[in-house]
Amino acid sequence: MERVNQILENELFRKCYKKIEKCEKKREFCRHNMVHFMDVARIAYIYNLEEQLDIKKDVVYATALLHDIGRFKQYEDKTPHEKASLKYAPTILEESGYSKEESEMILDAIAQHRNKEVAKEHSFRGIFYRADKASRACFSCKSESECNWKNEKKNLELIV
Ligand SMILES: [Fe+2]
Ligand SMILES: [Fe+2]
Repeated sequence: MERVNQILENELFRKCYKKIEKCEKKREFCRHNMVHFMDVARIAYIYNLEEQLDIKKDVVYATALLHDIGRFKQYEDKTPHEKASLKYAPTILEESGYSKEESEMILDAIAQHRNKEVAKEHSFRGIFYRADKASRACFSCKSESECNWKNEKKNLELIV
């Protein structure tokens, strides 16, 4: 997991992460923090094993670490955060030793992580979309009624 640790230490990654933390200090809804990134990574890796997609573990974790990394831009100027994340992820991936081919797969999953059209696909972006959504415990969230996620998107019961 050397490359994943390189992402965690990457200067641009840390800068973006700090900005998200600042923006979400008082956020009562789901945060886009390390707990979320690790939940998504682990769930996506489980789906990867269950569905025998054979994606490398450090590719799954890199996608999870980077998919929401542009979230602060959405707070700042309403740029959809999957687009903002695509602005920062390529540099971070390159600096952390990911190949062009690996980056393309990661960037595709980031680009599609809010597109429910891909949810049923037997593909990396398909499992990644589902893992991101499954990571949210709407069924036990005290702010669920005020959350702007549509009811069909919310996990009102446990999804595994
Ligand atoms: Fe997201
Ligand atoms: Fe997310």
